[in-house]
Formats: sequence, structure tokens, C-alpha cells
Amino acid sequence: MHWDFRKHRLIGLAIVALSVVAVGVVLLAAPARSAQALPSTPPVPTAPQSVAPDADKYVVIGWNDLGMHCMNESFANLAVLPPYNTLWAQVIRQGTRPEVITRSMKIDYSILDNTYSVGKTDFWTYAKPLFGVDLAPNVGLTGATLAGEMHAAPDHFAIEGVPLTPYRDSAPQPGPANWYPYQLAHMIARDTATGQMLAETTTVAPVSTEMRCDYCHKDGQREGIRTGNVETNILTLHDKEEGTGLMDQRPVLCAKCHGSNALGMPGNPELPNLSRAMHKKHEEVTRTSSDCYKCHPGQQTQCLRDVMYQRGLDCMNCHGSAAEVANPARRPWIDLPRCATCHAAQFAENPGKRYRDSVGHGGLYCEACHGSPHAILPTNQANDNLQNIALQGHAGTLNDCAVCHGATLPSGPGPHGLDSLLRTHLYLPLLVR
Ligand code: HEC
Ligand code: HEC
Ligand code: HEC
Ligand code: HEC
Ligand code: HEC
Ligand code: HEC
Ligand code: HEC
Repeated sequence: MHWDFRKHRLIGLAIVALSVVAVGVVLLAAPARSAQALPSTPPVPTAPQSVAPDADKYVVIGWNDLGMHCMNESFANLAVLPPYNTLWAQVIRQGTRPEVITRSMKIDYSILDNTYSVGKTDFWTYAKPLFGVDLAPNVGLTGATLAGEMHAAPDHFAIEGVPLTPYRDSAPQPGPANWYPYQLAHMIARDTATGQMLAETTTVAPVSTEMRCDYCHKDGQREGIRTGNVETNILTLHDKEEGTGLMDQRPVLCAKCHGSNALGMPGNPELPNLSRAMHKKHEEVTRTSSDCYKCHPGQQTQCLRDVMYQRGLDCMNCHGSAAEVANPARRPWIDLPRCATCHAAQFAENPGKRYRDSVGHGGLYCEACHGSPHAILPTNQANDNLQNIALQGHAGTLNDCAVCHGATLPSGPGPHGLDSLLRTHLYLPLLVR
């Protein structure tokens, strides 16, 4: 297949721009889809006529909303992003007509070999001056902890703001030598009444502190500034250029003045938002996609690891240049690349919703079958592929109908209107790769 990126992207951007105008408000609303066709409590078998019912077999599929969460290594001087992973899951009761279920069950989650964060980051020392909240040790900004119960929404479970670090208990000392960015979350779906386990899964909870401002802001590199620390060099430069007094206000939360949708902070409306300020100012030093890795994680983390990266796509193919990211007409964190820009219409996101908020076949989230952005399955990170190998015996898109439908397939097309035969045909070339 021949892909003309530029042509596809330009057309897509025009479409995105249009849909953005039309649906701006909807986008900001809660991501949950309407609770159509949800099962009643307790699940009542839908009495298939020709086959024996698959007696209450459940599947749980979990994912992290983003393909990578980036956080500061230290919060002593400045903060861009706090520790804040958000995990999602859907539970499916298997059957010819599978059902997505959230009632009469719960999901307990934990992170493998990662039970605490205090000492792996200094976040709790500075959470009060930065965010104005008193947090108990190991409790994140939303009250989430490293293990607990996910919250039920109409069509999924989620736990927002897990204060996860990239350091395992078995190698807790902070620093690049111990970075383990592809952390693993374990989820167990249980019957609420009996506590009985219905299904379990292990999925990636990615987090990285690889924000390499030091490439360019080390002592003496910018305007001869030498404070002995990269972050105070940056604050000193900012004070010098803008006449601010950030050095005297440490620790500084950038989003206090430069709004960030990632934190839900509007900032000072007179000032550029943080994404625009950063990408605009660094436009000249961000020439190629590999320059994106100087601030985004990163040369070591390699957060872009998905099937498309393996087929030659890089940051700028989807996001455009730093100048395009800095476009003042974009709403950062909301107006993001869309699958439908390059793929055919039956593979599109829901109108006005981001990929991560969109649902497809059977009310399943796109991410349930494909994984998170930058980690579209199969990826080159073994941990990303564990879940689907466990579910269907091979890596890649969740495309084995039997995982949800059991032994008896319904007649009719599957995901994206592909019938199972055509789909198998389409998929085979990927399998043998
Ligand atoms: C590839 C090199 C490079 C990297 C990496 C880099 N910067 Fe910069 N930064 C620059 C250059 C060049 C300037 C222009 C200022 C100057 O040297 O006079 C600058 C300026 C700034 C300014 C001053 C803005 C102003 O005018 O007030 C801030 C703040 C800043 N950088 C923050 C950061 C942060 C935070 C990171 C890491 C997330 C980072 N930079 C990473 C090269 C870089
Ligand atoms: C107290 C408010 C305040 C805080 C906090 C703050 N800034 Fe700024 N920043 C400003 C002002 C004011 C400007 C000048 C804006 C202008 O000229 O439009 C600026 C400009 C910038 C620019 C240059 C934008 C451009 O287009 O030239 C960058 C980059 C920047 N800030 C990054 C940061 C980073 C990174 C942090 C956190 C470490 C931060 N700022 C924290 C007030 C602040
Ligand atoms: C194949 C296309 C593609 C490539 C290549 C790509 N991105 Fe993305 N990126 C996306 C999509 C799609 C989203 C938003 C998904 C959504 O709607 O939730 C996104 C979102 C983001 C976000 C916002 C946080 C998040 O994960 O949603 C950042 C930051 C980002 N990308 C940076 C990068 C960087 C840096 C690179 C290169 C290392 C890169 N992207 C490569 C498609 C891509
Ligand atoms: C000098 C550091 C730096 C470089 C280089 C950089 N970024 Fe960023 N980027 C940031 C910071 C800091 C944020 C977080 C802004 C926030 O919290 O709102 C960010 C956020 C983003 C986001 C999410 C917010 C949004 O605007 O939607 C995207 C997408 C993104 N970057 C893409 C890229 C791409 C693509 C490149 C390479 C072309 C790149 N960035 C290069 C510092 C950088
Ligand atoms: C900038 C264009 C672009 C964007 C945006 C994009 N893709 Fe792709 N995608 C491609 C290209 C090119 C290929 C490789 C096609 C090939 O090798 O024949 C590909 C391949 C794939 C494949 C492998 C398909 C196969 O036949 O093996 C999947 C799955 C996929 N993309 C999913 C997505 C999802 C999900 C999104 C949105 C989150 C997305 N893509 C966004 C261009 C894009
Ligand atoms: C029930 C699982 C499932 C769900 C949910 C799902 N997909 Fe897919 N998707 C598939 C299968 C199966 C394929 C066929 C190719 C493959 O197996 O990788 C596919 C292929 C794709 C491709 C690649 C098409 C190409 O050009 O080769 C894109 C893009 C895509 N899906 C986007 C989405 C988006 C966007 C959503 C949410 C609106 C979504 N998918 C929801 C199973 C799913
Ligand atoms: C990740 C789980 C999952 C996978 C994988 C999956 N499905 Fe489904 N499918 C569902 C759910 C959930 C429904 C919704 C059932 C309902 O409408 O009550 C559904 C509905 C259907 C329906 C409509 C059934 C009806 O009676 O209305 C058909 C047909 C179907 N799937 C075919 C397929 C095929 C073919 C595949 C494999 C290519 C497949 N599905 C893979 C979860 C899945």
C-alpha cells in the first residue's frame, strides 16, 4: 500500500479543524458514552437458542489512557507534570452476544513490584507548595494510591491519578540506571457479593522521568548561566528573559501561569499556554522527530514503540513540526492526531472525541483492542504485548473473536464491519511478520 503522508495529513487536518469547531464543547464533556445496552443486575443470560451458554466466563481487559505518562524526576525547583497514571478496564461476560459489564462486580488493581512512591520521588515534600493540597504519603492528587479499587463508570472501570514512579521496589534508587518505564498493573475482577475472582489481567502502566532539559540547559550553555543545577539554570534564564521572579518562588508550577489542559489549570489567560510557550520557544532547536525526544521520553525510554513506528512513522508524521504543535488555534491535549486522518473512514474515532475516549465494536474502547497512543499493538516492548498474548495466544490487535464471543460466533461482521473471514485474510500478513 502506498501512503502519501503529507497529502493524507493535510486532508485530515482540515477535517480535524472543521470537526473541532463543530464539537468543541462536546469534547470537554465526560468521556463516557451513553449507557446503552448495559446489562441489568445480576447478569441474566440472554438465552441463546442454538448453543449451550458459556456459563459466566469473564474477560477483563486493562490499559493506561496514555501510551506514556511523563513526570518530573524532582519537584524541588520546578514542576511540569506530577506522578499521575490513569488506568482503565472493561469486563466482558463471554457469550455469542458478549456483554460489557460494570455492575455487581469490582476491580482491584496493584502494580507489580511497586508498592510505594515516597523515597522514589520527592513529590510529597513539595506537593503542598506546588498544588496547595495536604497529601498523605503515597496518596496522589486525586486520592488514588498504588493499589486499591477502581471506580465504576457506566461502561468501564477507571482509576485516575495513580502516583506511580518508574522505580520498582526491587530497584528503588532514583536515577536513569533504575528506570523501568513499562511498569505492569495487575487487575482482578471480582464478584462484589462473594469476592470471588472472575478474571484477571496484567497490563502496562507506562511512566517516565526522562525529560532531558539538561541537553541544552547545563551550566554555562545558555547566556552563561551557571547555578550548578539544570532546573535553577532554567528558572534563572526565564527570570532574565521575562523579568519574572521564579527563583524566589520555588518550587514553581509552570501551569500556574501557563495553562495546561493536562492538569486542568487555565493559567493566566494573557500568557501562552505551556505547550505553546515551550514548542514555540524551542522551535528552532526542534528540527527532526528525534529532537522531540530531548524533552519527551526519550532516547532511553523510546515511548513511541508501536506498529506504525515499526513501519517507519515518527512524531512529525502525525503531529507535524514543533511550530504546528505550537499553533495557537490548537487546544493542547485535546486537538491531537486522529487515526482517520490516514486510515479509512470505518476506522475513525467517534465524532468529536479523542481516540482514547472513543468506542467501537460492541461498545469496547478502541484502546481495549488496540492499546494506547504510541503503543498501538503490536509494539516492540515485550510488556505491552503480554495482555493480548495471554488473551488470544498472539501479540497484536485483539482480533480473535473467541476471546469475547466464546466458541460460537454470531453471524455478521465483526470490528469495523470486517467479517471474520475477510479479517483473518487481512490479518494474516501481520501475523507472519
Ligand atoms: C535542544 C536544546 C534544548 C532543550 C532540550 C531544552 N531547551 Fe529550553 N531553551 C533552548 C534554547 C536555545 C532557548 C532559547 C534561550 C536562549 O538560549 O537564550 C531555550 C529557552 C528556554 C526557556 C526560556 C524561555 C523564556 O524566554 O523565558 C525556558 C523556560 C526553557 N528553555 C525551558 C526548558 C525546559 C523545561 C526544557 C526541558 C523540558 C528545555 N528547555 C529543554 C534550548 C533547549
Ligand atoms: C509567575 C508566572 C510564570 C510562571 C510560574 C512561569 N512563567 Fe513562563 N512566562 C511568564 C511570562 C510573563 C512570560 C512572557 C510571556 C510573553 O512574553 O508573552 C513567560 C514566557 C515563557 C516562555 C517563552 C514563551 C515565548 O513564546 O517566548 C517559556 C518557554 C516559558 N515561559 C516557560 C515556562 C516554564 C517551563 C515554566 C515553569 C518552570 C514557566 N514558564 C513558569 C510567566 C511565568
Ligand atoms: C501514528 C501517529 C503518531 C505518532 C507517530 C506519534 N503520535 Fe503522539 N499522539 C498520537 C495520537 C493519536 C495521540 C492522541 C490520542 C488520543 O486521542 O487520546 C497522541 C498524543 C500525544 C501526546 C499527548 C499525550 C497523549 O499520549 O495523549 C504527546 C505528548 C505526544 N503525542 C507526543 C508524541 C511524540 C513526542 C512522538 C514521537 C516520539 C509522537 N507523539 C508520535 C499519534 C501519534
Ligand atoms: C523543549 C522541550 C520540548 C520539545 C523539544 C518538544 N516538546 Fe512537546 N511538550 C513539552 C512540554 C513541557 C509539554 C507539556 C505541556 C503541558 O503540560 O501542557 C509538551 C507537550 C506536548 C504535547 C501535548 C500537549 C499538546 O500540545 O497537545 C504534544 C502533542 C507534544 N508535546 C508534541 C511534541 C512533538 C511532536 C515534538 C517534536 C516535534 C515535541 N513535542 C517537542 C516540551 C517539549
Ligand atoms: C500519519 C498517518 C497515520 C495516523 C495518524 C495513524 N496511522 Fe495507523 N498506520 C499508518 C501507516 C502508514 C501504517 C502502515 C500501513 C502499511 O504498512 O501498510 C499504519 C498501520 C496501522 C496498523 C497496522 C495495520 C496492519 O494492516 O497491519 C494499525 C493497527 C494502525 N495503523 C492503527 C492506527 C490507530 C489506532 C491510529 C490512531 C490512534 C492510527 N493508526 C493513526 C498511518 C497512520
Ligand atoms: C473489538 C476489537 C476492536 C475495537 C474495539 C476497535 N478495533 Fe480497530 N481493529 C480491530 C481489528 C480486528 C482490526 C483489523 C486489523 C488488525 O487485526 O490489526 C482493526 C483495525 C484498525 C485500524 C487499522 C486499519 C487499517 O488501515 O489497516 C485502525 C486505524 C483502527 N482499527 C482504529 C480503531 C478505532 C479508532 C477504534 C475505536 C473507534 C477501534 N479501532 C476499535 C479491532 C478493534
Ligand atoms: C474484545 C471483545 C470482542 C471481540 C474480540 C469481538 N467481539 Fe464481537 N462483540 C463484542 C460485544 C461486547 C458485542 C455486543 C453484543 C451485543 O450487541 O449485545 C459484540 C457483537 C458482535 C456482533 C453482533 C451480534 C448481535 O447479535 O448483534 C457480531 C456479528 C460480532 N460481534 C462479530 C465479531 C467477530 C466476527 C469478531 C472477530 C473478528 C468479534 N466480534 C470480536 C465483543 C467482541
